[in-house]
Amino acid sequence: MGALLELQGLRAAYGPITAVHEITLAVDRGEIVTVIGSNGAGKTTTLSCISGIHRAAGGTITLAGQEIQRLAPHELVKLGICQSPEGRKIFPRLTVLENLRMGAFTRRDKAGIERDIAQAFALFPILEQRKHQAGGTLSGGEQQMLAIARALMGRPKVLLLDEPSLGLAPMITLKIFEVIRQLNQADGVAVLLVEQNARLALKLAHRGYVMETGRITMSGPAKELLDDPRVRDAYLGD
Ligand SMILES: Nc1ncnc2c1ncn2[C@@H]1O[C@H](COP(=O)(O)OP(=O)(O)O)[C@@H](O)[C@H]1O
Ligand SMILES: [Mg+2]
Repeated sequence: MGALLELQGLRAAYGPITAVHEITLAVDRGEIVTVIGSNGAGKTTTLSCISGIHRAAGGTITLAGQEIQRLAPHELVKLGICQSPEGRKIFPRLTVLENLRMGAFTRRDKAGIERDIAQAFALFPILEQRKHQAGGTLSGGEQQMLAIARALMGRPKVLLLDEPSLGLAPMITLKIFEVIRQLNQADGVAVLLVEQNARLALKLAHRGYVMETGRITMSGPAKELLDDPRVRDAYLGD
């Protein structure tokens, strides 16, 4: 059986400018895979292609062998590709509960949705305390928790996380990374994690890719990347 999620020769462009150059990347069932790289490397563009927000200019994306690169975002959510976007992008005027329900917009199973809301509150108890509060009034960390919880409401097979640590205090980041680990270990959710915090990401992930100016320049077990002198030099500040 092939990988759960597979990108082959994926190319993405903005008008005449190619942002992602024919990259190949895979996420297996049960895996946490991270993509690290500097600002502008093409990480967000890659995730946007997977979630259908940006149309790939070439190559294929497959989920359990099925080509999905031409599907719309809502169809991809139905297939289990759910994204927590960069910069969180929760709905600021909607309450926490309403934001969570938006994450379940492709679903009709009312009882299941209620169960998953309860589960989201179990993962992030602070969200339950704030459930009637407008999303825009939450702290940065709480908004990030809400963005992840909202993505979980789509029942992901592959959870796409774009810079979950961005702008957050270290304690909050650790809490969020712990929840990601728990989701992966307890529920078997596969995770594709994009991060600038390379050290934390490589500690959490099973495997990693290094992306530089639209290309994958290194890949391997996360432990090996953590020990690689080039990675240490460029991304770990050693
Ligand atoms: N909407 C856009 N229009 C034009 N260029 C863009 C757009 N979004 C990103 N880019 C360019 O594409 C490249 C990759 O950006 P991005 O995927 O956001 O990188 P990363 O997430 O790794 O920081 C950058 O050169 C960036 O300037
Ligand atoms: Mg980005």
